[in-house]
Amino acid sequence: MDHFNYRNGELYAEEVPVSRIAEQFGTPAYVYSRATLERHYRAYDEALSGRPHLVCYAVKANSNLAVLNVLARLGAGFDIVSAGELERVLRAGGDPGKVVFSGVGKQEWEMRRALEVGVRCFNVESDTELDRLNRVAGDLGVKAPISLRVNPDVDAGTHPYISTGLKENKFGIDIAEAPAVYARAAGMANLEIHGVDCHIGSQLTSVSPFLDALDRVLVLIDSLAEQGIEIRHLDMGGGLGVTYDQEQPPQPSEYVKALAERLGDRSLELVLEPGRSIAANAGILVTRVEFLKCTEHHNFAIIDAAMNDLIRPALYSAWQSIIPVQPRQDVEEKRWDLVGPVCETGDFLGKNRELRLQAGDLLAVRSAGAYGFVMSSNYNTRNRPPELMVDGDQVHVVRRRETLEDQLAPECSLPE
Ligand code: LLP
Repeated sequence: MDHFNYRNGELYAEEVPVSRIAEQFGTPAYVYSRATLERHYRAYDEALSGRPHLVCYAVKANSNLAVLNVLARLGAGFDIVSAGELERVLRAGGDPGKVVFSGVGKQEWEMRRALEVGVRCFNVESDTELDRLNRVAGDLGVKAPISLRVNPDVDAGTHPYISTGLKENKFGIDIAEAPAVYARAAGMANLEIHGVDCHIGSQLTSVSPFLDALDRVLVLIDSLAEQGIEIRHLDMGGGLGVTYDQEQPPQPSEYVKALAERLGDRSLELVLEPGRSIAANAGILVTRVEFLKCTEHHNFAIIDAAMNDLIRPALYSAWQSIIPVQPRQDVEEKRWDLVGPVCETGDFLGKNRELRLQAGDLLAVRSAGAYGFVMSSNYNTRNRPPELMVDGDQVHVVRRRETLEDQLAPECSLPE
């Protein structure tokens, strides 16, 4: 459930009409709902309340400082994949002691910074990364807390670009090889083994792949215990899907319950790294129809948002719901392709959408709070949209609209 609903015939973000936000701040614009973010975070935290746990929001899904700050205030942990994300967490008031550091390509300076601020755990993705981390920790005279990200070889049944738990993916360490790699890690002077980690993919719509992965990881944990290696926490990664269209993914509470049943009375601390299921439906992208262009084959509604603002439809053929901000009845319903001004045929946000439209109308692209702004670009020298956060009846600018000066500042011409 989210806080974008129709009231008196128009779309509201919490207590504010979306049309008023568009009037005041222009379009395109990302609009987030604080109450929705909080609700989604709490759904995990409350479901896990009976056992030791940490919900580490995956920063990559939406890394706006205000989003991170809202979650930090609730006591969230964070899953990061770069030193840049780490700095965002720190500036947003996040606790470095609740940060897990994932990613296949951690550089030495990133490891150093993470050790200096005292992150909670490194999710190590390869044998060679272990050597690097051991060396960097040794130079600093500290012990690096680690988990190995194992690849349990389960099919997450999701889009191939966002499926990560199969053997052929670049992520993690083959679960069959994990005992040997753990044994090596145990022998390294500057590492301390804390946990096991896995993340099998994103936008999963059933619990069974998670449970398959969990079963395999539990077998590993038991065999490590026999080797004398004690595992204190189990990080199941992120990946729970959301409703974009007709999908009916399990609620966080159902997902957590299924995990907890399998875990029984094991004393393992459970770490989760949800991104999309916290942020996606806490955001919309508001856009205005510039022109209607009806051709022999298609009706095009040319909107002021484009693939540079929201790339998911172009990149993954992702389907996101697009709804009118002020639904009208006074024009005929037609099938529209909603396309942006960027010079690419792939520049669309939706195709074949039944809508009643006129030029000037406002539309909201739903489920745009995750992997939306963070994946935006300046393609075609377009200024990126602002990010606005609604909190009750207040609207806060949490990232102003970019200007051309912002875009050009790092560039220069050759000397005369
Ligand atoms: N942990 C790790 C190690 C990850 O790689 C990811 C996402 C997450 C957690 C968070 O997963 P989530 O709960 O959001 O599914 N850009 C794509 C999604 C890429 C996901 C990458 N990894 C999209 O727009 O669908």
